[in-house]
Amino acid sequence: SRHKINMIPMASATATYGQKESSDQNFDYMFKILIIGNSSVGKTSFLFRYADDSFTPAFVSTVGIDFKVKTIYRNDKRIKLQIWDTAGQERYRTITTAYYRGAMGFILMYDITNEESFNAVQDWSTQIKTYSWDNAQVLLVGNKCDMEDERVVAGDRGRQLSEHMGFEFFEASAKDNINVKQTFERLVDIICEKMSESLDAADPAVTGAKQGPQLTEQPAPPQQDCAC
Ligand code: GTP
Ligand code: MG
Repeated sequence: SRHKINMIPMASATATYGQKESSDQNFDYMFKILIIGNSSVGKTSFLFRYADDSFTPAFVSTVGIDFKVKTIYRNDKRIKLQIWDTAGQERYRTITTAYYRGAMGFILMYDITNEESFNAVQDWSTQIKTYSWDNAQVLLVGNKCDMEDERVVAGDRGRQLSEHMGFEFFEASAKDNINVKQTFERLVDIICEKMSESLDAADPAVTGAKQGPQLTEQPAPPQQDCAC
């Protein structure tokens, strides 16, 4: 009775569209990105900081899933990011994992002041492997790095785990706006790198048609080189 589950929350998506973008195809690529991790690590705060440059200390646990859209410019490409903010609470797992399919990138988040959230990283990584594409890119984020006094997960532990899992790593703070933009931009760059690797690997004779990487949800652009 508290909330209804926002399965397809169009309202918030429309709110973040600029006028120019509301109708159109005004971008070169669209990347679907998911933010996952335990409840209260700061996923929603991280997205609000990035998309709206806002932060609230109050904790309103996400119900189900929501998304925001933001278009960025990287190396002469307009990239529309569809960023899905998932509920960390276990009881929404069936709903949230249904959205993993087709995601090109994941921000896997823990809270540096919360050991349990760090211990759960491995499980979240397994969820990614189970429900998403093989070539989805993952970036590990230790959030709340502004709370140094309450830190229980040393930076080195985060770094080691990320190396072990083959992910890149940032410590960040949604509150103090540390490494938020950098996280998204790095993830976009990694996705672009992966995309051009796949293109390089493809036979040039056949890349004109449907052989390109299935990394865009839009029809493949006519030119097959990603300048990212
Ligand atoms: P679920 O929706 O339940 O999965 O949680 P969530 O991961 O979305 O957490 P949320 O963004 O709602 O943040 C949880 C609490 O942590 C809120 O009270 C936030 O204000 C706080 N918080 C989030 N990020 C930071 C941060 O970088 N620093 C500090 N000090 N607090 C933060
Ligand atoms: Mg949330």
